[in-house]
Amino acid sequence: MYKGIILAGGRGTRLYPTTSVVSKQLLNVYDKPLIYYPLSTLMLAGIKEILIISAEDQYSQYERLFGDGSHLGISIQYKIQSKPNGLPEAFILGEKFIGDDNVCMVLGDNIIFGNELDTILKISQTGTGGTILTYPVRDAKRFGVVEFEGFDRGKVISIEEKPTHPKSNCALVGVYFFDNRCIQYAKELKPSKRNEIEIVDLCKKYLDQGELTVNNLTRTMTWIDA
Ligand code: DAU
Repeated sequence: MYKGIILAGGRGTRLYPTTSVVSKQLLNVYDKPLIYYPLSTLMLAGIKEILIISAEDQYSQYERLFGDGSHLGISIQYKIQSKPNGLPEAFILGEKFIGDDNVCMVLGDNIIFGNELDTILKISQTGTGGTILTYPVRDAKRFGVVEFEGFDRGKVISIEEKPTHPKSNCALVGVYFFDNRCIQYAKELKPSKRNEIEIVDLCKKYLDQGELTVNNLTRTMTWIDA
């Protein structure tokens, strides 16, 4: 079984001064707050138990918005991240919530839509180990980048975070499916040069075990890292 985490902390510094009082993920995108999009992704994946992780000063805003989630037919819990120490910290903070289950984490600022999305989200829960998604982009330097062997993109060769010289145009989407080992793996990670533990390093742990699956989203779908 998969539980879901939405990581919705961070400082949103590029949207100051608004984000000094309101979480970035609560700003409207079209007709609803940004966080509704990752929440919809988890719901489309069939996940009903969800943990929202946010900064301390944003915690109560989310709680007021969603309560216990019962009006949406799901269960929502909340957890504070004291500072943005890196994406994999979500699994350490969520240890008790995850329990013995698998987990799907969606970044609070990732919007994905397209007809095949529910199929891909369901397939991504059938693999063992870890499953990540990629999307073809023009500006790969801004993202985690996955390099594949051959044109069929069957085998992953490398994963790098924001490389100066990207080895492919396949960006790592902010939706990650991991088995329960991600909690232990996250605890083993060392901070990178930017003083964060990195999701690409967690993915590499699964890659080293030969247990990382990559599902490529096609251009018929849309992915926005807002
Ligand atoms: O969106 C996909 C990209 O997300 C991936 O391609 C990258 O591999 C991955 O590192 C990440 O890159 P970003 O530059 O977008 O990460 P950012 O630091 O902006 O964080 C993403 C969201 O997560 C953002 O809404 C803030 C939140 N966040 C981030 C960190 C590091 C937290 O809540 N806590 C954190 O510790």
